[in-house]
Amino acid sequence: MGRRTEQEQVVLVTGAAAGIGAAIAELAVACGHRVMLTDIDEVAVVSRALSLGDRAAACVLDIRSSAGWARAFEAAEAAFGRVDVLVNNAGITHTGVARDLREQQHRDIVEVNLLGTITGVCTALERMTAQGHGHIINVCSMTAFLPLPGYATYCASKYGLRAFHHSVAIEERDGPLDFTIIHPPSTRTSMLEQEMADPSSAIAFAEKPYAPERIARAVVDAIAAKPVEVVFPPLGGRVQRIAGVFPGLMRLVLPIAEAKGLRRRERLMPRPGTGR
Ligand SMILES: NC(=O)c1ccc[n+]([C@@H]2O[C@H](COP(=O)([O-])OP(=O)(O)OC[C@H]3O[C@@H](n4cnc5c(N)ncnc54)[C@H](O)[C@@H]3O)[C@@H](O)[C@H]2O)c1
Repeated sequence: MGRRTEQEQVVLVTGAAAGIGAAIAELAVACGHRVMLTDIDEVAVVSRALSLGDRAAACVLDIRSSAGWARAFEAAEAAFGRVDVLVNNAGITHTGVARDLREQQHRDIVEVNLLGTITGVCTALERMTAQGHGHIINVCSMTAFLPLPGYATYCASKYGLRAFHHSVAIEERDGPLDFTIIHPPSTRTSMLEQEMADPSSAIAFAEKPYAPERIARAVVDAIAAKPVEVVFPPLGGRVQRIAGVFPGLMRLVLPIAEAKGLRRRERLMPRPGTGR
C-alpha cells in the first residue's frame, strides 16, 4: 500500500494501459487519488482500470487527436468532477539509426511524443486555467539531455518536449498552474523489450534499467511536492545533464557506453530453449 498524500487528487494519465503509465495509475490509486486511465489501446486500458477498483476509470485516447483530448477531459469530469493533475506519459519509439528509419517512422515519433503531448498540454492549459488550478506533469526522458546513437528522432522529440515544457511553465508563471517534468532513464517496459531486439539501441543497456514502479513513485511524489524537474539517477542524472551540453565530449564517451550496453544486452538477451 502506498503512502497517502496530503490531498487526494483527480489524475488523468496517458499511456496508462502498460509500462510506466500503468505503474503510475496503480500507485496513484493506492495513494488515495482517483485516476482516469487513458490509452490508445482501449481494451487494455479498460481492463487495467477495472483491476484498480472504483477509484479508477478508463477512456480511449490517442494523444494525437485534439477531439480525443476533449473527450478524455470530459470523461474524467463526468466520472470524478474535475482534473487536478495531467500526467502526459504516452510515448513511442522506433528503433534504428536515423538513416534506416522510414520517413513515416520519424514522423510517428514526433507526432506522438512531441505534438501529441503539446496538444495535451494546450488542452489542459485552457481547462485547468478555467477551473483555477491544475498541475501538468510531463514524462520526458534522460535523452532530452543526451544525443544518443540509435535514438536520433526519439532524442529530438524529447529535447523538443523539454524546451516546450519549460517555455510554457515560464509563460504561465503568474497563473494558477504548476508544472513538473520527469526524465526516466532506461526502464523495464515493452519499450525496452523493443530496444532489446535491435543492437542499434544498445546504449539503452549501458546502465541497469529501472523498474517502472520507481519512476511511478517519482511521479506520484511529484503530485504533492511539485518539483520543477526530476532526473535519474538523482546525482548521475545531473552529471549527464551537464555532459550533454558538450557534443565533443559525447563523441568520446558514448562509444564506450555503447560497447558496455552491447555487452549487457548480450547478457540479458533471451536464450532459445532456456526460458530467458
Ligand atoms: N522505457 C524506457 O526505457 C523509457 C525511458 C525514458 C522515457 N520513457 C518514456 O516514458 C513514457 C512511457 O514509456 P513506457 O516505457 O512505459 O512505454 P510502453 O511502450 O511500455 O507503454 C506506452 C503506452 O503508451 C500507449 N500509447 C502509444 N501511443 C499512444 C498514443 N498515440 N496515444 C495514447 N497512448 C499511446 C501504448 O499503448 C502503451 O500502453 C514514454 O513517454 C517514454 O518515452 C521510457
